[in-house]
Amino acid sequence: MTTEIKLNGKTLSLDADPDMPLLWAIRDLAGMTGTKFGCGKALCGACTVHVDGQPVRSCSYPISAAAGKSVTTIEGLSADGSHPVQVAWRELNVPQCGYCQSGQIMSAVALLEKNPNPSDADIDSAMSGNICRCGTYTRIRAAIHKAAEAKS
Ligand code: FES
Ligand code: FES
Repeated sequence: MTTEIKLNGKTLSLDADPDMPLLWAIRDLAGMTGTKFGCGKALCGACTVHVDGQPVRSCSYPISAAAGKSVTTIEGLSADGSHPVQVAWRELNVPQCGYCQSGQIMSAVALLEKNPNPSDADIDSAMSGNICRCGTYTRIRAAIHKAAEAKS
């Protein structure tokens, strides 16, 4: 069965089981490896992408649910890393090992699109499902504030 999704602006026809997790399609079929596999159970946020602008855990989201929808991954945020959230992340040296960071950035972008000037409590609430084993939470929060200032 063929499932069509729009991935970072390009139509992708997936000849795959409709129950296949979206993360598998993104990484293994489309070859975009910026989105990471962490827990596989919607518990860590490493695999966060946007579907029609909403953050979802792609490890637990079947491709059938994304049919006809627009999927954005870290590769789709900007061609050259110039999205304000990516710029703030670099300026504040947010990542340590980096593994969780594309998921963190995708959740941060979704937050700022909904709430352009979030408080610390808003940030902590929106980002609470994104786990960082390196403990970069303080820098993540600062970078979200910095990106919010840059966008305003
Ligand atoms: S890998 Fe999807 S939430 Fe952990
Ligand atoms: S930077 Fe290492 S897990 Fe977050």
